[in-house]
Amino acid sequence: ARIVQHTFNVGNLTVNRLCRDQVITAVNGGLPGPAIVAQDGDTLVVRVNNISPYNVTIHWHGVFQLMSAWADGPEYITQCPIRPGQSFTYRFNVTRQEGTLLWHAHFKALRATVHGAIIIRPAPGRTYPFPTPFREIPVVLGEWWNADIMDVEEEAVSAGGPPNASNAFTINGQPGDLFPCSSNNTVRVTLVQGRTYLLRIINAALNTPLFFKIANHSFTVVAVDASYTDPYNSDVLVLAPGQTVDALMTADQPLNRYYMAASAYVVPPLAPYVNISTTAIMSYIGAPASSTPLMPVMPRGNDTDTGHRFLSNLTGLTSSPHWSPVPLEIDERMFVTTGLGLVPCRNPSGVCTGPGGQEVAASMNNVSFELPEGLSIMEAYVNNVSGIYTADFPNNPPVTFDYTNPSNALNPVFIPTVKGTRVKQFKYNATVEMVFQNTAVLSSDDHPMHLHGLNFYVVGQGFGNYNPQTDGANLNLVNPQERNTVVVPAFGWVVIRFRANNPGVWFVHCHIDGHVPWGLANAFIIENGPTPDTTLPPPPPDLPQC
Ligand code: C2O
Repeated sequence: ARIVQHTFNVGNLTVNRLCRDQVITAVNGGLPGPAIVAQDGDTLVVRVNNISPYNVTIHWHGVFQLMSAWADGPEYITQCPIRPGQSFTYRFNVTRQEGTLLWHAHFKALRATVHGAIIIRPAPGRTYPFPTPFREIPVVLGEWWNADIMDVEEEAVSAGGPPNASNAFTINGQPGDLFPCSSNNTVRVTLVQGRTYLLRIINAALNTPLFFKIANHSFTVVAVDASYTDPYNSDVLVLAPGQTVDALMTADQPLNRYYMAASAYVVPPLAPYVNISTTAIMSYIGAPASSTPLMPVMPRGNDTDTGHRFLSNLTGLTSSPHWSPVPLEIDERMFVTTGLGLVPCRNPSGVCTGPGGQEVAASMNNVSFELPEGLSIMEAYVNNVSGIYTADFPNNPPVTFDYTNPSNALNPVFIPTVKGTRVKQFKYNATVEMVFQNTAVLSSDDHPMHLHGLNFYVVGQGFGNYNPQTDGANLNLVNPQERNTVVVPAFGWVVIRFRANNPGVWFVHCHIDGHVPWGLANAFIIENGPTPDTTLPPPPPDLPQC
């Protein structure tokens, strides 16, 4: 295995998008930032120099961080932020996974522009479990605001309501031909007719699940979240924020020019998301240069059938060298509601922009998570510092009710959301089944739940109220898809299983960034195992101090 080294200089960058200049925070002067290309088993050493005006941390989204939790990156979970003018070097291995992941800032909303691809190829001497593609095409999907994203978040948080919708979606940093002042910079890709390409697609958008299509072409999905899947054919791909898809596409169409496009997959009518597609041009070599590219017909934003079909039909590739069996004996069963709710307004003005002038809060089992500030939870855990968190996350549905009836939104039983830093602690190697039940308080939203430090199996998903008898009897315990981010569907549920075999403190949260300051998050502490190689090592000496 090799050592892959990078230096990330995080600083201001002025870019022109949508007819205006905007100062953003970016890595090494690029949007997206540099791609990290590694092989399974490599060691990554990334020195981060913060020359931006903001605090920053970098998270390696989906990398297991086996025995290296100090390098995981989420602010106040595993480390204090890197202050302006300071540096920190992240050291970790990428092991037992292949495919596409992403790195991104894990400080407030900075990941809107501080992100990039992580590409993990098979170890030397190994091959893909599919025919070797002719070329790879990295596709980083993003979201653009005509504003400083930190101001957007600040305004939303102090007003206690939702953030302003973005002004465009982007492909590799560019909005594309359908947006004003953008067509000169539209991303262009050339294709050789008859060849097969591996698209490595990342949804790095802050707040929006996306549909992805290429006119007249279809895909064979071979991996999601850097886990191999059984080959799955589809002409549309669906990615929630934080999810990735590796898909093969054969250039089997007439010599022409075709748009790839991404558009919003947003179920409730709440957010006025832009409904213009971001596009890039795929040109066959030999195509008439002047031809207008063909545009795919995108699903409507509320096309839940298409969204759910894609997300629920994927299955894991059990012949993958990285596959391990689904836990069948379960030590800890948890039932966790995810949803939006309201708490009394805390804006000094006394009025918030949430419904009824209240403040929007989001919660898991009605606990609305608050990040500590003086110390990271992992440092508090390892050093037995009290007052930072308590390990008493409630494992019960808060009340018995119909989770799917939106008219319950005004029922007072939904209001007793409490703020706090109440985390869940697991014994080393515990096997866990967790039901995420979406609630319909204040409308129901898709919640792409992301777990740091571990992958999990998605053993079931559906709509309505989860029924332990009927739904519980139909779980896929043979070849479920393995993920690090799963969509808990609006008005629905998902069941995951995992083995808590990686000591550390792991953030678990909705990957819709706007839901995190509202509290749709928690942290899982996994205790050390019995042997030195299952014991979390001490922190690196340059870990930033608060
Ligand atoms: Cu990609 Cu905690 O996030």
